[in-house]
Amino acid sequence: MSNYKDMHTASIETPEEFWAEAAAGIDWEKPWDSVVDSPEPHIYRWFSGGKLNTCYNALDRHVERGRGDQVAVIYDSAVTDTQRKITYKQLLDDVSRFAGALAANGVEKGDRVIIYMPMIPEAIVAVLACARLGAVHSVVFGGFAAAELATRIDDATPKLIASASCGIEPSRLVEYKPLLDEAIELASHKPDHCIVYQRPQVEASMIDGRDVDWNEAMQASEPHDCVTVEATDPLYLLYTSGTTGQPKGIVRDNGGHAVALYWTMKNLYGVEPGEVYWAASDIGWVVGHSYIIYGPLLHGNTTVLYEGKPVGTPDAGAFWRVASEHKVAAMFTAPTAFRAIKQQDPNGELIGNYDLSKLRTLFLAGERCDPDTLHWAEDKLGVPVIDHWWQTETGWAIAANCVGLELLPVKAGSVGPAVPGWDVRTLHSDGSDVATGDVGAIACKLPLPPGTLPGLWNAKERFIESYLSRFPGYYETGDAGFIDADGYINVMSRTDDVINVAGHRLSTGAIEEVLASHPDIAECAVIGAADEMKGQLPLGFLVLKAGVEHDPESIVSDTVKMVREQVGPVAVFKQAVVVARLPKTRSGKILRSTMRRIADNQEYKTPATIEDPAVLNEIAAALKTIGYAV
Ligand code: COA
Ligand code: AMP
Repeated sequence: MSNYKDMHTASIETPEEFWAEAAAGIDWEKPWDSVVDSPEPHIYRWFSGGKLNTCYNALDRHVERGRGDQVAVIYDSAVTDTQRKITYKQLLDDVSRFAGALAANGVEKGDRVIIYMPMIPEAIVAVLACARLGAVHSVVFGGFAAAELATRIDDATPKLIASASCGIEPSRLVEYKPLLDEAIELASHKPDHCIVYQRPQVEASMIDGRDVDWNEAMQASEPHDCVTVEATDPLYLLYTSGTTGQPKGIVRDNGGHAVALYWTMKNLYGVEPGEVYWAASDIGWVVGHSYIIYGPLLHGNTTVLYEGKPVGTPDAGAFWRVASEHKVAAMFTAPTAFRAIKQQDPNGELIGNYDLSKLRTLFLAGERCDPDTLHWAEDKLGVPVIDHWWQTETGWAIAANCVGLELLPVKAGSVGPAVPGWDVRTLHSDGSDVATGDVGAIACKLPLPPGTLPGLWNAKERFIESYLSRFPGYYETGDAGFIDADGYINVMSRTDDVINVAGHRLSTGAIEEVLASHPDIAECAVIGAADEMKGQLPLGFLVLKAGVEHDPESIVSDTVKMVREQVGPVAVFKQAVVVARLPKTRSGKILRSTMRRIADNQEYKTPATIEDPAVLNEIAAALKTIGYAV
């Protein structure tokens, strides 16, 4: 059985057999008692009773079976102009030693470790060392501010934090250590230790007794063996934006995760062990977890860790240089990166400077891909360009053209059909199916396949409320879209207040909380307005308190500074406008989606429940003053 339809049907009709067969790709210390079970209504667990170690599956077994001298990680840093190739054997040595260092600093199975590190090999070492010990890692993206890191420290309550002295952005050095110190200061929970990797660009100052130098810890440590864990034990937590300012701690298990990611490497991405796979993302995002680290290593691929940008490091040929130099077979990035390249090199002239004969497929995800960008990439690269759709929650793709099974026709604007394992529906608000081709809320029938979130960290009620309660028996994705007559899914927009800026998921609620804390602001709203390059950009609407005499422009620039300091530069909050009032329903709900349509100059209907329709004209007029709604 190799074609898509048969595989998909088998996965839905006999999921236990389907996934038990896929689980043969993973080494188990003890087989599972049941493939999938449900300890309570709507809560599912995969491979319960099974025991394994994810790091063993990603490293040790490959070394034991002759892959020790194969390169596991190619570190290519365009920002420092350095490269390092690390074999499976070397990576295993480093990871075992760092696991020893973590253990020597008190980390045990089940403890949480926050990893706040830039795109350097030591970050991968830290991640895998946690997996080796059965400790639960939680990577925090470097573009977040100290306050965001503090929120995650308080929720995950880590015993230890692994960090580095700096990250390197093309225009500046990002000193991590002061941000880390500030976050620990802000947080109520205090880690026992921080292990800090000193990069040559910046020397971080250390706090006696708490902070430990990475190299010294490595030198002093004994290699640590793998600790056996339950398939259902947590491997990691990854925080992602929800509707409120409090991020959601997505939990990932060990067994289902290893099985699902291993399966996707060949069947979805179409690569064989030994080939080079490159996800041009960041280890702080789910794409980085699944396809810079775990997927390729579980499958015996060589993964590329690229520290740089698609443009400016040094030019719009950066991706082609990396792909050609390292003989990349499959590449994965966000449409934003391609829009940035296309803007600087519209005719794709730089592509001609590189030999891309090894590149078979380009995969895109993270945000909606506009057909222009997809066609440009297809045209310039001459390989299939596959848009696919997934979420931090799911850990791997819900919908994709699975090229390893069968290359189906590519339809621009669609993310392809449901991947085997996924029963995807579009629903009306009452839970009934919408007609083929009509837009509805996208939901997936339970149980979700292995590797998806079994829950939220310490937030069971929130898990049920956020994902399972609106459509009983289904997982609510938070995305809206339609399914066409061929079963291809089109993801159109979010149904909540989550926005997507340059492929980065952000909560408008988190930004609003910061704006609302300004002493002159009575009320505010944030929307994601369309942006040609980044997909969306956050845009603030500020209602000032009566009697405020400060210049509105200075209040706007205060808010820009505050969001950068409190959420982080990754929010790209650069614009806000002062308005007299916000459009609301009679029950007081702010009409953000209507405001977004006005900003994007799209047609909109005045909602029947609006308190005062005249306010929409005021909003349009205010938006025109800053170049929107035109
Ligand atoms: N650490 C610290 N700061 C970071 C950071 C990090 N890891 N990543 C981004 N930032 C900062 C940037 O320096 C920038 O700061 P600035 O305001 O001082 O310029 C800010 O956050 C916004 O970053 P970004 O939106 O990424 O803009 P950019 O101009 O730096 O780069 C692109 C634009 C298109 C090149 C970049 O967004 C990109 O490559 N996007 C693809 C995203 C992606 O891979 N997503 C993962 C899903 S697959
Ligand atoms: P994240 O959890 O950061 O991966 O963001 C997930 C969200 O990004 C999804 O719920 C979608 O809204 C959006 N998204 C991801 N991939 C795609 C895609 N290929 N097409 C459209 N939207 C996407």
